Amino acid sequence: MIKAKEFKKRRTQVAKIIGHDSIAILKAKDVCIRNGDADFKYRPDSYFYYLTGCSEPNALLIICPNNKYGEDVLFCRAVDKHNEIWNGPMLGLDDAVDKLKFDNSFDVNQSDELLPKLMQGRDKVYFMLGDDTDFDQQVVKWTSTVAKNKWAKSEAPHELISLKPYLDDMRVYKSEAEIKCMQLSADIAAQAHISMMQKCQPAMYEYQLNAEFLYSITQHNSSPSYLPIVGGGENACILHYINNDQKLKDGDLVLIDAGAEYDYYASDITRTFPVNGTFSKEQAQIYQIVLDAQTAALEKAKTGFHYNEYHDAAVKVITQGLLDLGILTGDLQTNIEEHTYAQYYMHKTGHWLGLDVHDCGEYSIDGLWVELEPNMVITIEPGIYIAADSKAPKKYRGIGIRIEDDVLITKQGNIVLSRKVPKTIAEIEALMRKDA
Ligand code: GLY
Ligand code: MN
Ligand code: MN
Repeated sequence: MIKAKEFKKRRTQVAKIIGHDSIAILKAKDVCIRNGDADFKYRPDSYFYYLTGCSEPNALLIICPNNKYGEDVLFCRAVDKHNEIWNGPMLGLDDAVDKLKFDNSFDVNQSDELLPKLMQGRDKVYFMLGDDTDFDQQVVKWTSTVAKNKWAKSEAPHELISLKPYLDDMRVYKSEAEIKCMQLSADIAAQAHISMMQKCQPAMYEYQLNAEFLYSITQHNSSPSYLPIVGGGENACILHYINNDQKLKDGDLVLIDAGAEYDYYASDITRTFPVNGTFSKEQAQIYQIVLDAQTAALEKAKTGFHYNEYHDAAVKVITQGLLDLGILTGDLQTNIEEHTYAQYYMHKTGHWLGLDVHDCGEYSIDGLWVELEPNMVITIEPGIYIAADSKAPKKYRGIGIRIEDDVLITKQGNIVLSRKVPKTIAEIEALMRKDA
């Protein structure tokens, strides 16, 4: 659980970044309608939550250094007894100050009246420019309200600036408390992956393993961090397969990419295992290449290496492996240069992980790959996908394998947060034989 003090510290950091001549404004995302009059369960926007700890819709965060109302102000819904009867307790203005440690709070219904006052005299307005066109226009409207006020027009802001790059830079380094949440999130998902391996039987349906995943993580008050992928046989070659409605066949593999969200922090884990508990010769050959690629990538997922280096390490092992099996022909260097491996490995080896599964943060700046640093969290997820209609030797067609772990970069090297899920062929087969 991230404490209110940590959220407050982040707001103070933003105040320092923007300076005394500026104001920052962030809006909570709206509730999403699912269909008819039914909503999706509300999940706060990650940037807004990161700075506020507030998980309610209909709220505005204002960071306005050195002003009479307070440096950090939350506009939120006033407690409404009628609403509480239907939807449960609300944060309210008092708890925004008492529990979330804001300097001040106002009723969100007063925002049109107060925002121009807060903006008056500020040169720059920082906000999530381009994220929500309606809100972009709202910020311009408040700015023009100041500009049209004949007593204050010379004090209207004259620069609108994106806050996103500054927040991305903060979010990419995880604090001790965030790392604890991410470890918990990985542990919860790991337990669920183990359960799925233990429960899997030929003739089950993909959705039954999905159900096992949901059952297991829900036991820990967690929900999926993205729609789970449960792909049996050649469905594993569909990278974003989410139908999960086919029967699992004896002799096939099943690829499961499923992560948990705990306290809004994501894990993102993939394992691929045989439906009947035993890898065939060809499945084991491909699996071992992917595992070796992941091991090679892990060696380069350390402080001082650049983001591309762990991808390049995985590509090299995968390309060599595909050559060794006669799935590719020619020499290693040419195949790498000509990207022939991309017929079978068409995605990057990983991404930032945090509040979002594909977490914010740049991968390259001015054409240079970002350097990995302590407290960054990445995924390492090499794969090989040999579609049923590919040109590979017939015996390999329809095999899709990915192995994905969540990795914390440390001063000394790295820590695999998702290490509790079995990964080697021997470990998986032993677990599925139930003699682990
Ligand atoms: N589960 C999404 C991904 O692996 O990137
Ligand atoms: Mn991933
Ligand atoms: Mn994944």
